[in-house]
Amino acid sequence: MTDTVTGVSNLITRPDIGTLVSASILSADFTRLASDCHAALDAGADTLHVDVMDGHFAPNLSMGPAVCAAVRRGAPAAFLDVHLMLTDPTSFLEPFAKAGADHCTGHIEVLEDPVAFRDRCHRLGMSAGIAINPETPLEVLDGVAELFDLVLVMSVHPGFSGQSFINSVLEKTRALSARLGPTQRLEMDGGVAPANATAVRDAGCDVLVAATAIFGGDDYAASIEALRNGGGS
Ligand code: DX5
Ligand code: ZN
Repeated sequence: MTDTVTGVSNLITRPDIGTLVSASILSADFTRLASDCHAALDAGADTLHVDVMDGHFAPNLSMGPAVCAAVRRGAPAAFLDVHLMLTDPTSFLEPFAKAGADHCTGHIEVLEDPVAFRDRCHRLGMSAGIAINPETPLEVLDGVAELFDLVLVMSVHPGFSGQSFINSVLEKTRALSARLGPTQRLEMDGGVAPANATAVRDAGCDVLVAATAIFGGDDYAASIEALRNGGGS
């Protein structure tokens, strides 16, 4: 559909690889971040999800490029899926690329020039995602969703892990899924757990982000397997 969507080849731009589980390190133990990352990866997580917040777009502060670079040093082979909950995500693409990010997602609510964001990602060797908040109408993605490697649907309000999944986003997700092409991925982020994993996948998602459902339990492998293949409906 566009010339730049195929610009980067990685786990995100290869949907034939199948459903990905992305472990959100927001709920990792920061006193032993590298070993928590390895534990999630060893248990089957396909990517690490790095939540970046600026205290403006999201009502919290989290991690910057230095933490991303530390994760990259601690887990050199990991795929780093960076979620930029910032009012100016484009200006942080280069620092995160240098910090080892493989993919960056910015929010449609703040991106004045989504195509410039996507093209900057691709020029920096990263795939590009566009995120939409639970209360944002799908129409804002008209003519935009089709241009990205990935669309991320927020199923909680940005800011914190451990919130409850907002069921009403499933309808929006199904509509979005019907619009996306075969090489585009659809990611769900927020409150995703084994109990709703089947519904999330049935709505068309092939990237499931989870913080609490992985790091909040004792058996990371069982949780990741349930997110990928099992779970309630
Ligand atoms: C929320 C973040 C999510 C969060 C998910 O602002 O974007 O990635 O870490 O946490 P859980 O899985 O606990 O809802
Ligand atoms: Zn996130």
